[in-house]
Amino acid sequence: MQTFTNVQLLQNTLDDWRAQGQSIAFVPTMGGLHAGHLSLVALAKQKADKVIVSVFVNPTQFGKDEDFDQYPNTLEQDTLQLEQHQVDGLFTPSAQQIYPQGLGSYIKVGAIGDVLCGISRPGHFQGVAQVVYNLLEIVKPDMAIFGQKDYQQLLVIKQMAAQYFPAVEVLSQPTVREKDGLAMSTRNQYLSIKERQIAPHLYQALLQAKQDYLNNASVEVLTANAEKILEKGFKVDYLEVLDANTLMQITDNTSEIAILFSVFLGSTRLIDNIIFNKG
Ligand code: PAJ
Repeated sequence: MQTFTNVQLLQNTLDDWRAQGQSIAFVPTMGGLHAGHLSLVALAKQKADKVIVSVFVNPTQFGKDEDFDQYPNTLEQDTLQLEQHQVDGLFTPSAQQIYPQGLGSYIKVGAIGDVLCGISRPGHFQGVAQVVYNLLEIVKPDMAIFGQKDYQQLLVIKQMAAQYFPAVEVLSQPTVREKDGLAMSTRNQYLSIKERQIAPHLYQALLQAKQDYLNNASVEVLTANAEKILEKGFKVDYLEVLDANTLMQITDNTSEIAILFSVFLGSTRLIDNIIFNKG
C-alpha cells in the first residue's frame, strides 16, 4: 500500500492507474478504523480494481463544543489494517491540502440536511458536504462508498454527488454491529464500562420501534415504548419515524421507512437507525 500526504503525488498515481484502464473506488474516513469501515473497504475491493482510503479528521464538520481535539488518532493501527485488507492507497492529507483557501464551506446542503442531526449539530452537514466535495474533486473516483450507519449523511452526500459529480457512483453498506447489537463507531471508545453495558439498548429500542410500526402502533405509542427502553441512562436527542428517501413525514407515496434515533450516554452522542420496506 502506498501512503500519500500530498495531493499532487496522489493524483500522479491515480492518473497512472486510469491510463492502465483501472477503475478506482474511494472510501473517505476520519480514521479510528473498525469493522464498519472495513466493510466499506471490502465492497470497494469487490467493485473496483484499485481502492483508495482517506483518513482526515475534518475540522469543518465539528461544532465548537464538540470532540475535534479529542477525536481518536490511531493512524498506525489503521495503516496496518488497511494493508491487511490490501488497500492500494492511503491518503492522509493535512487541512492545508484539503482547504487551501482556508476552512470555509460554500457547498449548499438541501432541506434533507435541515432535520435530525442538522438541528442538533448546526453546520455539521455543511462541513461534511464540503469535505466530501473537496475529496471527490481531488480523487475523482469511479465510485465512493459510505455507511448506512450515518444515514442522513449518506443522503446528503448522495444529493451533493448527484449535483456536482454525476459520474461518481455512490454506494453504501449496511451498519456493522457488535455482537450485542451496538452499531460500531469510533466514538464508542468514549463510553465508560457502565455506559458500554447499556449502550446496546439503543438498538433494542430501534428493533422495538420497528416491531411497533409493523404492528400499526401509533407514533405516540412507538415513541413511548422506545423512551421506556432508553429511560435508564440515556438522554434522548431525537426519536423519529420518517420516509427513508426524503427524511420527511411518511405519506401514501412512502415506500421505505427510516427509524432514526440519537441519544446521549453521558457526554457521548450515539446515533443509529433501521431502514425497512413499508410493507
Ligand atoms: P467516519 O465516522 O470515519 O466514517 C467513515 C465511513 O464509515 C462513513 O461512510 C460511515 O457511515 C461509515 N461507518 C461508520 N461506522 C459504520 C458501521 N458501524 N457500519 C458501516 N459503516 C460505518 O463519516 C465520516 O467519517 C465523515 O463524516 C466523512 C464521511 C469521512 C467526512 O469527513
